[in-house]
Amino acid sequence: MTTIFEKISNPSEKGAEVAIKKAAGILKSGGLVVFPTETVYGLGGNGLDAEAAKKIYAAKGRPSDNPLIIHVSRPEDAEKYCYTNEHFYALAKAFMPGPLTVILPKKDIIPFSVTGGLDTVAVRCPSHPVARAIIEEAGIPVAAPSANISGRPSPTCASYVVEDMDGRVDMIIDGGDCEIGLESTIIKLDGGKAILLRPGAITCDALECVCDSVEIAPSVSEALGENERPLSPGMKYRHYAPASPFVLLSGDDEAQTEFLKNAIKNENCAILCYDEERSLLNSEKLLPVGKKGDLAHQAKVLFTSLRDADKLGASVIYGHLPPKNGLGLALYNRMIRAAAHTILKV
Ligand code: TXA
Ligand code: MG
Repeated sequence: MTTIFEKISNPSEKGAEVAIKKAAGILKSGGLVVFPTETVYGLGGNGLDAEAAKKIYAAKGRPSDNPLIIHVSRPEDAEKYCYTNEHFYALAKAFMPGPLTVILPKKDIIPFSVTGGLDTVAVRCPSHPVARAIIEEAGIPVAAPSANISGRPSPTCASYVVEDMDGRVDMIIDGGDCEIGLESTIIKLDGGKAILLRPGAITCDALECVCDSVEIAPSVSEALGENERPLSPGMKYRHYAPASPFVLLSGDDEAQTEFLKNAIKNENCAILCYDEERSLLNSEKLLPVGKKGDLAHQAKVLFTSLRDADKLGASVIYGHLPPKNGLGLALYNRMIRAAAHTILKV
């Protein structure tokens, strides 16, 4: 298939209206459109159309038991597709539009092919103006997983979307770099209690300000045991993985830097390094991820760094194990998956 390309950073810029109408038309008629969101790029299709869902799974090469998130342009629209409650609205008031996805019991209008056979559906109201304009114009819930080939890092810029999706979708909209760079926080509600299934930019501390309590699902920071079923099907798959083995270092800062200095001498390695240690590491295969304390920047560049690391032709990639608090938990979650839980204590 030939993919149409459009560049829109703002729905009010010249030419944007025509492109948004074109994207909405494709979605309404059962086609696929990749669009930017504040987290990562999404691969959108009509969330009411079982056939469109099948096309999404095919384009991504994704197992069809891994459910999709439906995107709405206003939190109230969730009402049409799932059974909401006061706790959902409290969360919506605090965090929507924004990088939060809530899982609720689905209404019959949402096909089981969208929810991977589950009787719940994940709903998110993105804050990116281009995403919202397209959903609004289409007038349908837009089912959208991240726009990567299954297993690869989620795309946070259009060039990586093109790498994975050119020829597999009807249209790609380039909206520049995604602001957050990691996928949305996903929670399931159990009354006023939030069960955190995937950490993201809406942190546990932020959720605790609104929910009665927050419980972190074990799969967020641990490997699943054999035959164990996660609450979120996506957590069981190998994810975000670069092609070369990725190893996470833990231990004190100096020991980690010493380890890396030796690794540069003895191995063909690429390193996701902090700004502070750049001058200490003499290698052409450094991928600076920002200052040690700047978790927001590290989140923004993580997936790009993993893709770039692959292009350096290294036989191993090293990175630092992030802290588990605040936004660190989201980084930790993605990085241990990318590293297949390989942590080296130095
Ligand atoms: O930021 C995001 O959430 C991005 C952008 C495009 O919005 N989307 C995204 O979708 O990350 P995806 O499909 O790559 O990840 C959705 C995750 C999967 O791990 C899936 O298993 C889980 O959400 N999920 C979806 N529906 C669910 C449900 N009903 N119950 C439990 N987990 C669900
Ligand atoms: Mg994904």
